[in-house]
Amino acid sequence: MGLFGPLKPLHRAETDGKALAKTLSWPHLMALGIGGIIGTGIYTLTGVGAGLAGPGVIVSFALCGLVCACAALCYTEMSTLIPTAGSAYTYSYSSMGEIVAWVVGWALILEYSLACSTVAVGWSAHLVGFLEEAVGLKLPAFLLAGPYAGGLVNLPAVLVSLAVMGLLLIGARESATLNIFLVIIKIVALGAFIFLGMPAIQAGHYDPFMPFGFFAHEIGGEKFGVMAAAAIVFFAFFGFDAVSTSAEEAKNPGRDLTIGILGSMGVSTFIYMLVAAVAIGAVGFQDIAASGEPLPHVLRTLGQPFVASLVGGAAIVALPSVILVMMYGQSRIFFVMARDGLLPAAVAKVNAKGSPALITLLTGIFVAVFAGFVPLKKIAELSNAGTLIAFIAVALSMIILRKKLPDAVRSFKVPLHWLVALITIGGCAFIFSSLPVQSQGFTLIWMVIGLVVYFSYGRWNSRLRKEAKIAAGE
Ligand code: ALA
Repeated sequence: MGLFGPLKPLHRAETDGKALAKTLSWPHLMALGIGGIIGTGIYTLTGVGAGLAGPGVIVSFALCGLVCACAALCYTEMSTLIPTAGSAYTYSYSSMGEIVAWVVGWALILEYSLACSTVAVGWSAHLVGFLEEAVGLKLPAFLLAGPYAGGLVNLPAVLVSLAVMGLLLIGARESATLNIFLVIIKIVALGAFIFLGMPAIQAGHYDPFMPFGFFAHEIGGEKFGVMAAAAIVFFAFFGFDAVSTSAEEAKNPGRDLTIGILGSMGVSTFIYMLVAAVAIGAVGFQDIAASGEPLPHVLRTLGQPFVASLVGGAAIVALPSVILVMMYGQSRIFFVMARDGLLPAAVAKVNAKGSPALITLLTGIFVAVFAGFVPLKKIAELSNAGTLIAFIAVALSMIILRKKLPDAVRSFKVPLHWLVALITIGGCAFIFSSLPVQSQGFTLIWMVIGLVVYFSYGRWNSRLRKEAKIAAGE
């Protein structure tokens, strides 16, 4: 028993008939990683970030890349040390105790579910743009936005969320294989963008480089500056962590996860830096800030309407892969929390394909509701907030377990681990402080609700607590 409730033993055998099938190897995991990383963040939020920081958004990308690379290293060590599903939640359970684990799991719901909703809304915008520009079809406006923008519901966003949920119900392996094709389409589209945009770069577009300064500061109720943009474009970098939630389904965790997490992180970061620099260099930051689909917009401005439609089309085909990865991660988190007794056990039942069907269904519906009725920027901010909390927890877990269990077998060890943990924790806290105050407040309220749920249900149904009682002969 730790300060924050029971600690989950490492390598605990989960052999009560609810274990997930071992079907994934590193190409699947790397595709899951890239599938989760490259998405609405680069396709849509690059424009939002440019509006908040000017060309300095390139620095925002670099800072987030650094922090996320350090977080990815911590994740890799932890996922090879504790190769069971549940990611940051499970790591916190073993290192800091049940209450912290619950809080982190509750934050992961924000991260994964709302990332799905964010991407679904971004996807919807690309679909609308594509249908208008390439097909000449205009969908009724009230079906394209929720009541927050005078509409009824963002119907395409709801439909894509439910469609991906259906894919996951078919089973992890099929979904991961399809994901590989979508990842290739996405990378080819971004490659075409870089190739066509690069010759159009004008050095003048990078000047002034930081028109709103570095630190986040409020102007008219909105935060501006390089850090304010970092708090938004941070969204573009996460997703690799969903790979470590699949640890239990990896065939050879030590090798597969190391390649899967670090490989996908490196490839994606490299592509991002190029895309952001090319987009701003080619047309200027004001121009992309005003666009809901900045990359096709840049290409149309450069006189490439056909390629613009192809890139927009690629986003439409490929963005669902991000939803797939995130929804997959979310359903596994719920699964593990239910298996631990912190959520009702009945929902953790695994179907013949080895997938937790009921949980997947509930996750899909939750995602669809947010996608249908909440604005993009808000859900992205909340998703970022949840992720930042999870990253901090993973770095802390890594440090704590290095101290507590220095001799435990780790097939991957973070080099300079104190420095890496410090960058992760300090960087995430700094980015969190740069989020709009309203989103910080909502996150706090969400966490308080989580604690109420824990002390009403999880505290009394926790499997570890029950086992401890039996062992103590109570
Ligand atoms: N990183 C993912 C994206 O950009 C969540 O869409």
